[in-house]
Amino acid sequence: MSNTFFQKDIVSVRDFDREKFEEVFKATDKVIEMNPNERRELARGKTLGYLFFEPSTRTRLSFEAAMASLGGTSIGIADASSSSAKKGESLADTVRIMSLYSDVVVLRHQLDGSSRFAAEVSERPLINAGSGTEEHPTQAILDLYTIRKEKGRIDGLKIGIVGDLKYGRTVYSLLYALGNYRANVRLISPPSLKVRSDSTYEIRKKLAYTEATDLEENLTDLDVVYVTRIQKERFADMEEYVKVKGSYKLGPELLKKMKDDVIIMHPLPRLDEISHKLDSTPNAKYFNQAKYGKDARAALLALVLNEKGI
Ligand code: CP
Repeated sequence: MSNTFFQKDIVSVRDFDREKFEEVFKATDKVIEMNPNERRELARGKTLGYLFFEPSTRTRLSFEAAMASLGGTSIGIADASSSSAKKGESLADTVRIMSLYSDVVVLRHQLDGSSRFAAEVSERPLINAGSGTEEHPTQAILDLYTIRKEKGRIDGLKIGIVGDLKYGRTVYSLLYALGNYRANVRLISPPSLKVRSDSTYEIRKKLAYTEATDLEENLTDLDVVYVTRIQKERFADMEEYVKVKGSYKLGPELLKKMKDDVIIMHPLPRLDEISHKLDSTPNAKYFNQAKYGKDARAALLALVLNEKGI
């Protein structure tokens, strides 16, 4: 029997149930434990094609590193201005061409709906590496994997999500994903950066959450604090950005008020919302999180490319 992910697109975590998440987590555990020679058989002779229409450090590099660790190769466009998109080539044609040269296509694009559309024209499975303000499904997978790894469970935890909840696509994927678990979620943001009302109806169907604006008052009982950057590039009006810029800064003084075993996460990149002074504390897990990103993406690629799974 083939595994659930074989030759399938990964466009949205809304297509996942708890079993699917657990399937990827188990595969990630296996990838980490595997002998490197055995791991290099999982994508031997296969090519990953990436198309990044927006900047990236972690997602693109971790996909490339993951593919290399599986014995495969990567080709791609890291900067769309150096591709024929600059001459006016459509997204559909760009994706179609990449899918002729590769076994799996990874796309990041500034438009909501771009990945769903691209999956329809791609000849090969398509993985969404970030679509507009809408979703970043592989980030949610690695976020849940990090919580499970660092806290031993997801159910029953008090999870605070802090910062730009309006434009941060990692937030939406994380909230949809957490809907499959029994977590207590607190959303902490400036009033103008609350979760978008067009998404709350769907999120509330599966997840109970509360909303707050004051960071200090709402941190003391949390098991996980997931901090996000204010997404300057998504603001239509820079005056609105200036009003909320620097709203939250997590530093040593706030850490003292938090639970001893709280974990601090961030999808990265960070600006000033987490002090560098926290980096060496046992609570800071954002670099572990980025490392698990490579492992989780390797597991996902191995599942998509191998009928029998791992
Ligand atoms: N977390 C994340 O998506 O990082 P990059 O934008 O660097 O890929």
